[in-house]
Amino acid sequence: MVNEKMEAALNAQINAEIYSGYLYLSMASYFEDIDLAGFANWMRVQASEELEHGMKIYDYVIRRGASVTLEAIEKPQTEWDSPLAAFEHVLSHEKTVTGLINNLVDLAIAEKDHATNNFLQWFVEEQVEEEENAMEILAKVRLAGDNNSILYTLNEEFAGRVRNTINE
Ligand code: FEO
Repeated sequence: MVNEKMEAALNAQINAEIYSGYLYLSMASYFEDIDLAGFANWMRVQASEELEHGMKIYDYVIRRGASVTLEAIEKPQTEWDSPLAAFEHVLSHEKTVTGLINNLVDLAIAEKDHATNNFLQWFVEEQVEEEENAMEILAKVRLAGDNNSILYTLNEEFAGRVRNTINE
């Protein structure tokens, strides 16, 4: 079992992960609007991973005999000033999510919930990867600047992103 505090915190994280998916889907729509379909593909893949993150917690809550209670998903931002601004937002958002995961780990430790702490370690590692990916892409987009031919090349690269399975 997880206690009520842990149950509430895990439910909040399900919401945060689904919101992340919503945010990246909104960024995908922004990139479609400015004719960067490859960037949009990258965001779609990202969104789908976020929904899987939410489901991973959803399934864990059920396995621990607790209840999933879904709340409203906040409306995401819909416009960005540039591809660079969007990817700066990705990195800052992922840093925020890292903070949320760290808070969950702190709570699991405080509540002596070793199983949940162990479960959360997957997310701790995942956030290292999420921030690493965001920093790498941000650097590329920053280097491209206003150079449309480099942006086009990046667009082609991002069009090739496919989804990894969550259990890798
Ligand atoms: Fe679910 Fe992008 O962290």
